[in-house]
Amino acid sequence: MRCKIFKEQGMDEFTRERIARAMRQATRIVVLTGAGISTSAGIKDFRGKDGMYEIVRKRYNLPSPEAIFEINFFMRQPEPFYEMVRSMFAMEAEPTLSHRFLAWLEEQGKMSLLVTQNIDMLHHKAGSKAVLECHGTLRTASCLTCGRSFEFAEIRAAVLAGGIPRCECQGLIKPDIVFFGESLPAEFYTVHLSPPDADLLLLMGTSLNVQPAAGFALNLAATTESILVNRDPTPYDAMVTHVVNMDLDRFCQDIWEEMEKTPS
Ligand code: OAD
Repeated sequence: MRCKIFKEQGMDEFTRERIARAMRQATRIVVLTGAGISTSAGIKDFRGKDGMYEIVRKRYNLPSPEAIFEINFFMRQPEPFYEMVRSMFAMEAEPTLSHRFLAWLEEQGKMSLLVTQNIDMLHHKAGSKAVLECHGTLRTASCLTCGRSFEFAEIRAAVLAGGIPRCECQGLIKPDIVFFGESLPAEFYTVHLSPPDADLLLLMGTSLNVQPAAGFALNLAATTESILVNRDPTPYDAMVTHVVNMDLDRFCQDIWEEMEKTPS
């Protein structure tokens, strides 16, 4: 059943209490996170102001900034992609308050599934366990020629030194993240086709621009109470029950405090 749609610029006491109550009562929360959950850790988002795509647009003369994640482009010109990965490796980012909040919700037995579009591994670092990394991970990499698999540690040094990692067979090595034109992990299609039983959907720090991850969440939003927390509006705000446009860490801190005031 659809609920009334609320649009909030920040959170007044009433909104905070209403959202905290929904989260206190929930026991099967499904979450979709995007790049916005990691910006306070220093990792840039993609489409936000000063995001990764704006940097790529200024620095490289590409058909479109998304080309750095296109497999055919990567095979011809891997440098822009590896420059982005280098800045991520060099940073050694730590989980944000929002990552820790989600790990805490799982510990409280409230989470059903956390789907992340992020490749930064910060949910695992924060202690979350039921995580589906639908755009893959930087944890491992593979040679595009012979298929040999590499651990993150084996290519890290080469990337940080400014190189493009290559296999013994001279094939190009690509982290096991999903590029445009590649399939998502099979486990994602399994939950997409048969979504988990959810009593609350939480969408955090995503512009909902990229399929099929956005479609998975929006399908669930059609039948489940949903909360979207994002700094900027998205084209799909009207499909979500509560839209809160504010900083995610601030939101999570407020709700965390509110939930701890009255434990479920
Ligand atoms: P986007 O960059 O498209 O969206 C991130 C959203 O987070 C933006 O709408 C920002 O307003 C919001 N945001 C940023 N910082 C925030 C903060 N501190 N608090 C609240 N909101 C904040 O990133 P995604 O939606 O994750 O895919 O992008 C999806 C996919 O597009 C990525 O996984 C990547 C990219 O192409 C692939 O590489 C395959």
